[in-house]
Amino acid sequence: ADEPLILGIETSCDETGVGIVRGHTLLADALASSVQEHARFGGVVPEVASRAHLEAIVPTMDRALAEAGVTIADIDAIAVTAGPGLAGALLVGVAAAKGYALAAEKPVYGVNHLAAHVAVDALEHGPLPQPAVALLVSGGHSSLLLVDDLARGVTPLGATIDDAAGEAFDKVARLLGLPFPGGPHIDREARAGDAAAIGFPRGLTAARDLAAHRYDFSFSGLKTAVARWVEARERAGEPVPVADVAASFQEAVCDVLTAKALAACQAHGVETLVIGGGVAANSRLRALAEHRAAKLGVRVRVPRPGLCTDNGAMVAALGSHLVASGVAPSRLDLPADSALPL
Ligand code: KG4
Ligand code: ZN
Repeated sequence: ADEPLILGIETSCDETGVGIVRGHTLLADALASSVQEHARFGGVVPEVASRAHLEAIVPTMDRALAEAGVTIADIDAIAVTAGPGLAGALLVGVAAAKGYALAAEKPVYGVNHLAAHVAVDALEHGPLPQPAVALLVSGGHSSLLLVDDLARGVTPLGATIDDAAGEAFDKVARLLGLPFPGGPHIDREARAGDAAAIGFPRGLTAARDLAAHRYDFSFSGLKTAVARWVEARERAGEPVPVADVAASFQEAVCDVLTAKALAACQAHGVETLVIGGGVAANSRLRALAEHRAAKLGVRVRVPRPGLCTDNGAMVAALGSHLVASGVAPSRLDLPADSALPL
């Protein structure tokens, strides 16, 4: 018999995503992004995002179903991001999921966005060996998780105590006069720069911080250090070496992320590190993680960049795993929860 056909809906931030999977096979991944509408504000504006989801959700559903060559009647279950994320944005996806589920008489599964970022890797690399450590780094979150079984939840090991990693990339890019979202621009500039040019701080890695924040991250001090460094240059009337600043900043972020992720692997005797979220597209993060992990006998799994950023396929992937694990569907009064815990 065929594995169940699962549709996933994602609307937690600025991407309206609808994905369709059968088992670990991706059949459709339709996306509508409002990122350009936020660009002139330098960050995602919640009201703008909600309105964009409202306009995009039905056309994106239609596109995904057409891409997979199925109708809503063929779908076995609908999964939807119930949180965490922007409250108004989440509501659009959850309401849509309930509407389609009710109309087509399908079960609905409210899922956690962070767990979905982990689950998506299975679409590219097959079932995730468990236990695994997951490093999730995006514009909205920076977390380290211990994954025993995605269907039974995951254990948070640490998270950022201030800015998310992607947020730091975006803020530093802005300071350097690069467009939003800044991550890809920093990544590109850094290739021509010297990562050892400037010694920027590595947040929460001093002995006294490690005691209380072993797997937590902090990027706001780094961002401030970059701002001070750039200001001092400008005050002295000297040009800002954008490539060197980008490379040195990127190195500080990637150094801390990989060091803590691999320390978590070692402490928990875990041999698989999975990286997800928009920042997982960063070329230096991927290379440094591979390099350091290889020395420790840890395997790194990173999905292709298009699956790292927010999308519907990741929600469908997690839904598929939940259905295969025999997890009961959510009730139809399932709430959207902007602070949904893991
Ligand atoms: O996962 P995502 O698409 O959306 C959120 O859930 O936030 O992540 C977007 C973030 C942005 O901050 C963006 O600058 C960052 O991912 N990003 C990158 C790269 N590509 C995207 N950061 C560093 N290097 C990249 N190549
Ligand atoms: Zn995300």
